[in-house]
Amino acid sequence: MTAATIRQPKRLADYQPPSFLVSKTDLSFELDPTATRVSATLTFQRNGAGIMILDGQQLKLISLRLNGQMLTDKDYRLTEDSLEIVKPGNSGVLEIVTELNPDQNSALEGLYLAEGVYCTQCEAEGFRRITYYPDRPDVLAVFTTTIIADSSQLPFLLSNGNKVSETLLSDGRTAVKWHDPFPKPAYLFALVAGDFDCLTDAYVTASGRQVSLEFYVQKGALSRSHFAMAALKRAMHWDEQRFGLEYDLDRYMVVAVDFFNMGAMENKGLNVFNSKYVLADDSSATDQDYFNIESIIGHEYFHNWTGNRVTCRDWFQLSLKEGLTVFRDQEFSADMGSATLNRIEAVKLIRTAQFAEDASPMAHPIRPEQVLEMNNFYTVTVYDKGAEVIRMLQTILGKTGFNAGLKCYLDRHDGQAVTCDDFVQAMQDATGQDLTQFRRWYSQSGTPEVKVQEHYDATSARLTLKLHQHTPVTADQTIKQPLLMPMRIELLFSNAGSSMRQLLLLSNEEQEFQFDGIHEQPLIVWLEDFSAPVKLSTHYQPEQLLLIAGRATNGFARWDAMQQYWSLLISKAVTGGLLPQLPAELVSLFKQLLQQPLADIALTAELLALPDFDTLAEQYTEIPVDALLSCLAHLTQQLAEALAIELTACYQRFDSIAYHYNEQGVALRALKGRCLHYLAFTNEGEHWVNQHYRQADNMTDQLTALKAAQYAELATSNSLLEDFAKRYQHNVQVMDKYFSLVATTPNDAVFTHLDRLTQHSLFSWKNPNRVRAVFGAFSQRNAKQFHRADGRGYQLLAQIVTKLDPINPQLAARLLTPLLSWQRYDQQRQHLLAGLLKALAAQASLSNDVFEKVSKSLP
Ligand code: ARG
Ligand code: ZN
Repeated sequence: MTAATIRQPKRLADYQPPSFLVSKTDLSFELDPTATRVSATLTFQRNGAGIMILDGQQLKLISLRLNGQMLTDKDYRLTEDSLEIVKPGNSGVLEIVTELNPDQNSALEGLYLAEGVYCTQCEAEGFRRITYYPDRPDVLAVFTTTIIADSSQLPFLLSNGNKVSETLLSDGRTAVKWHDPFPKPAYLFALVAGDFDCLTDAYVTASGRQVSLEFYVQKGALSRSHFAMAALKRAMHWDEQRFGLEYDLDRYMVVAVDFFNMGAMENKGLNVFNSKYVLADDSSATDQDYFNIESIIGHEYFHNWTGNRVTCRDWFQLSLKEGLTVFRDQEFSADMGSATLNRIEAVKLIRTAQFAEDASPMAHPIRPEQVLEMNNFYTVTVYDKGAEVIRMLQTILGKTGFNAGLKCYLDRHDGQAVTCDDFVQAMQDATGQDLTQFRRWYSQSGTPEVKVQEHYDATSARLTLKLHQHTPVTADQTIKQPLLMPMRIELLFSNAGSSMRQLLLLSNEEQEFQFDGIHEQPLIVWLEDFSAPVKLSTHYQPEQLLLIAGRATNGFARWDAMQQYWSLLISKAVTGGLLPQLPAELVSLFKQLLQQPLADIALTAELLALPDFDTLAEQYTEIPVDALLSCLAHLTQQLAEALAIELTACYQRFDSIAYHYNEQGVALRALKGRCLHYLAFTNEGEHWVNQHYRQADNMTDQLTALKAAQYAELATSNSLLEDFAKRYQHNVQVMDKYFSLVATTPNDAVFTHLDRLTQHSLFSWKNPNRVRAVFGAFSQRNAKQFHRADGRGYQLLAQIVTKLDPINPQLAARLLTPLLSWQRYDQQRQHLLAGLLKALAAQASLSNDVFEKVSKSLP
């Protein structure tokens, strides 16, 4: 196959139903590190016109039989990525034997062997690396899987569904057979073989079904899997309560592996997780880790209905399951902890990574229209903007309407592979709401910009609000249409406590809303709870923002007002070429917050935070890197000096309570941590940071101290880091945190450090967690060194991408992302970045993953 044919993107518009379906797939694996044999027996039926063409990649074909007859060369055509059966007939049984080399599989797609564990990852198109198959989500078969291996070395042989039998073979090997009664696409297939510790528990569903819950983790890590188990039970219970959805098999298995490209995978009855999102205990996990584990455990569990029982017709529909399932996991997390904090974090992600993606050469709608490498579309747009689109539906239809819509969708399409349109149609049919215009959110890319104007007329007591929406063109699409978007607002009246909340539905490019009987000019809180994923421009005065921060009913809106306040202050400074000065009214507000934290302490901690670099960056067409970094550093220093007394008092006011991961504990640590972050910049910085580190009985506080020391560039920073590395040298999950910390060193020394880290005995280029801990942190969380004007940071990342591409293209392509947005920077940086991208593009044998992104980024 020539390069030109490999690089042919697929288009949504070209979708054709499969010409053949497979009703039964029987697999047998004889595991061997370098020569695993896979026998696949497919029972197929014709479904439409067309030839029978099966997908296959990096496979060695051993033999092929059709209805028992051995096929020879003339009966089939083999290419590098397909197998065509010349005369398949209208139905029959095809037996395919292939051989694979799991040991050499460093791409971690298909079947791979890492650290003695055989593991599969088939989404999106990994099953074609196991056997020849119609590897597309609209071919659903009932799978029976037999795994044959030496059980003294591999005591656990797992696959989807229920265990049917376990037999000792005459040659001493063991054969374990699994059967999954639910028809599924190949991307949900999984096999795991290895030696593990196993934590078991049980769950009884609302209707009384007994489910055995099993966590398989690395030896010795059992005590670190209890939290994930408890989170799973909470998720199962929550889905019953909130959506009336129950689990449907007798077993639910979760395997944790250290070699994994993503967070986790929802294979039917056999989830595979990145160990980072399973293993945790109080001494090794941060509050954030606990949060992530609960949310991802929830996410994969919720996929059992939204993804597995009802799946995608084709990969362009990925958001059908991912946007919806992210929305579901967000709702779950909101119910398990602080809803406000959850919303803030979700919005930060949209305003940083998602807005950046919309403005980048990789811009795409939540339902992409053209894809070269599917792995490139597991994006923050498909996932998180996708979840925002689902959230807007819930806002428009109300919770009751939304629940009815979801029920209609699942009842109607259970067992099917469907489209985003089918989903919206179900929402429409269940509620009677016309969602024709709303569907544009699925086809239109880009971040809408909404401008608001207010006019108040005292004599008629009438308030008129004028809204204007506009979506700027994106790299993939020039014509943009108005969208239907829900705008939540609150009108604040001078009489404290008096307000009015409204939901406006904006559908035209320009639209007016009138309110009568308004007897004074209110202060308007726009886009409460971030009710639509847009950029909003308002005409607030700084004092008005501080008022909203103090008074809005919605916690998110209060935080958002503070963020807007800082953005305004910083943008004035950037425009004027000056450093911002701390306004007195801000200092007094912060004093007040420190002296009397709100009842919601977690919110106080957020109100006291400056926006991060990435959030600010997305507010500029050309990102003023250096100016933003100096403004942030300067403001931090000024806040520390102006508030040293209040910060100290607030820090000391809350006695450290013994560590417990719960809402109150999280909030307290966040507030103390915020204080410490500023205190590190005072004369007493060394003292407070050292003490915080020494007294910490948990990972959150230790990391807070280490980060504060590093950001403030305290002398103690290095010795604390060394101490930390020594203490945790045997826990690789914690060492990843150490790697990331070192990679975010804010000065020149980082380059020597990075080099040293890649020589560390725990580091491996084949392990995505290690590579991300080092280079993901460097490129995404060390703006100062990554964006150096001399290009050293960019060069390093380009080198790493080049090195990784042959090892793990998916990982290489993900790391590449920050280089793509070269047009967002000044001339000098543009020049450096464009040069590096051109050099990358000129390399022979780039993977499709890297090729697609690099080629899109060049004119
Ligand atoms: N479906 C998985 C999830 O829950 C993600 C798997 C993505 N895999 C990949 N190779 N891109 O989000
Ligand atoms: Zn998912």
